[in-house]
Amino acid sequence: MSQGVLREFDPKNMLFRRLGPSGLRVPLFSLGGWLTLGGTVKGDPVKDIIQLAFEAGINMFDTAEAYAKGNSEVEMGRVIKELGLRRTDLVITTKLFWGLRNGPNDSGLSRKHIIEGTQESLERLGLEYVDVIFAHRPDATVPMEEVVRAFNFVIEKGWAFYWATSEWSAREIEEAHHVADKLGLIAPIAEQCQHNMFHRERPEKEYAPLYKKYGLGTTAFSTLASGLLTGKYNDGVPEGSRFAVHAMFKRTVDGLQKEDGQEKIRKVRELTKLAQDELQTTPTLLALAWVARNSNTSTVILGASSVEQLKENLKVLEVYPKLTDEIMEKIERILNNKPTPIETFGRPGLDRYGRL
Ligand SMILES: NC(=O)c1ccc[n+]([C@@H]2O[C@H](COP(=O)([O-])OP(=O)(O)OC[C@H]3O[C@@H](n4cnc5c(N)ncnc54)[C@H](OP(=O)(O)O)[C@@H]3O)[C@@H](O)[C@H]2O)c1
Repeated sequence: MSQGVLREFDPKNMLFRRLGPSGLRVPLFSLGGWLTLGGTVKGDPVKDIIQLAFEAGINMFDTAEAYAKGNSEVEMGRVIKELGLRRTDLVITTKLFWGLRNGPNDSGLSRKHIIEGTQESLERLGLEYVDVIFAHRPDATVPMEEVVRAFNFVIEKGWAFYWATSEWSAREIEEAHHVADKLGLIAPIAEQCQHNMFHRERPEKEYAPLYKKYGLGTTAFSTLASGLLTGKYNDGVPEGSRFAVHAMFKRTVDGLQKEDGQEKIRKVRELTKLAQDELQTTPTLLALAWVARNSNTSTVILGASSVEQLKENLKVLEVYPKLTDEIMEKIERILNNKPTPIETFGRPGLDRYGRL
């Protein structure tokens, strides 16, 4: 990678956690590029957003082969170079599955696409390796042994240090662990999952045994439910917003008129009041801090379509320590959607070391 003057990384007041059972330290808040970087945000603003994040102690950036049809990786790679960021300071993650072309082997998790897809991603990023490579979805059409072996090959080649999953079921993650264990190979270290105040079952219940058994980490996404938890959709869909710009949210927008959607907006209003009255903050920061407060969360991937949004969201580090048990309880009462724990039929639960 050709670099000009290297910009020193200063973690400032960022907190770091291990990514699952690995030794890799990731910032509690990272930055992702879905729909934004290289998509609705192009050119200098991409640089401004990444620079702002980096200067605030965020050194982890998430992208995917399919984001903006490959342009997210291209833009991220360009900016890393232009800003003169030191590769060792950064944790770069990308994801494979959707592919960019329509051929039968251009997507999915075959050995062929995992290897070719990795090489193409690295080329777009202009990097020799990423830190973590994710399987962006499970692929029921490929034997798990092939998937595990292929990601291990990618690691052996030095193209990635770790591999991980995204939107896999607990059963699929378990299977990957069993296969890796049987073959003496490296298992996935984390799951990139949707986790927000309205989406809790999978990260809080379905994966619960995996945190205990495998120390699974999470890189949580859509923590603001794509913006819904900011309160910006309380009175309709503002022009230029994600729900207005991207057709894929049509069902979500229609849903806001229905009972379930109205209930969500009612909760956002109550959360706004709680945030203002008790913490002098915004529902946005409350929602981001709430996912970070979960000890199974390794990193919350922030999404921002402007420097201004990221500036606001970065204040989460001030709000995070204020989420006391009492505040968490008040949030829980508003949400009223805590997943019921896995049934133990009267048997007391064990901790991760098997102790009572
Ligand atoms: N693995 C996966 O399948 C998967 C799926 C989704 C995301 N991800 C990853 O997670 C990252 C974050 O996900 P996400 O973008 O869905 O997160 P999100 O935080 O739920 O949504 C971010 C969007 O909300 C709006 N927003 C953010 N801050 C705001 C603020 N302060 N005020 C008003 N609006 C604000 C912006 O959209 P507008 O300004 O356009 O309205 C922004 O792009 C992605 O970039 C990607 O790296 C992964």
